[in-house]
Amino acid sequence: MPPKRKVIRIHVPAVQGSLIVGNNIDVLKTLESGSVDLIVTSPPYDELRTYTGNYDVNLHDLGTEMFRVLKTGGICCLVMQDQTKNGRKSLTTFKTIIDFCDTIGFGLFETCIYKKLGNEGAWWKKRFRVDHEYIPIFVKGVRPNYFNKDPIKIPCKHANKEMTGCATRLKDGTTLESTKVTINPTKCPGTIWDYANGGDKNKLKREHPAVFPDKIPYDIIQVFCPPGGTVLDPMCGSGSTVIGAHRLGMQFIGIDIEGKYMDICRRRLEAECGLVQPVTQFAAESPEEQTAPPS
Ligand SMILES: C[S@@+](CC[C@H](N)C(=O)[O-])C[C@H]1O[C@@H](n2cnc3c(N)ncnc32)[C@H](O)[C@@H]1O
Repeated sequence: MPPKRKVIRIHVPAVQGSLIVGNNIDVLKTLESGSVDLIVTSPPYDELRTYTGNYDVNLHDLGTEMFRVLKTGGICCLVMQDQTKNGRKSLTTFKTIIDFCDTIGFGLFETCIYKKLGNEGAWWKKRFRVDHEYIPIFVKGVRPNYFNKDPIKIPCKHANKEMTGCATRLKDGTTLESTKVTINPTKCPGTIWDYANGGDKNKLKREHPAVFPDKIPYDIIQVFCPPGGTVLDPMCGSGSTVIGAHRLGMQFIGIDIEGKYMDICRRRLEAECGLVQPVTQFAAESPEEQTAPPS
């Protein structure tokens, strides 16, 4: 009898992607309702950066379309900050959160803080040096379809030590007897996430004026996107989200209004992932071209 061979199965995900140049709201209108698992994006809010072109994003209309294309239990994450003008914050982030929840129908799952390591601005005299952005995490429906924080857990400083846990305090003020616990090797990173500044020392990526670190979408995708799911970035810029999705074996849809920025994303996919991805030009005014991109 021939010796039994050990069969090794390698999972090769059938990854498919779409890169589309066009106005995000027009493009999203061609996508099927309930077809996307996760959205990770960063809007050009408060004119904080000068982009090629002068784009105005109507966050309410965009939010409405993002809500429609998400599956129930799907997640939408924005990465944003408020402009400070004459000493006052614009409140755009907070207004967007309230609009998305009160008017559009999202629930707010959490608002994490992206703490920027090594942020410049030490010369600011009249206000604090702003070294964070907000990451509001919206859910369509009651709970996320998929939630796995294991891949983003961080090491515990006191791993494997035995400690006396805090005693639980009861409503009447009395405490239960404290018990000894062994500290786990890793823990949940909590709601404040540290990342180095956006450019990732990546020359190609830095051709775009306003990027977030690749690690932000990479972490978010691992936590909220089911294996092989579909990730959308409707303002994809240099492609940080798209690249994370591809690396993790997800399907992706990247949309940007500016062909020059989409070209950075296309070149990055080729240089960093070896993926040659065609770019579709979307023209809202010619109905025959409004076919839904492959999902
Ligand atoms: C903050 S940047 C996103 C950068 C991206 N997160 C990255 O890491 O590279 C915002 C992007 O939104 C795009 N944009 C602005 N208005 C748009 C619109 N109406 N439709 C699609 N894209 C838009 C801009 O061209 C810009 O690339």
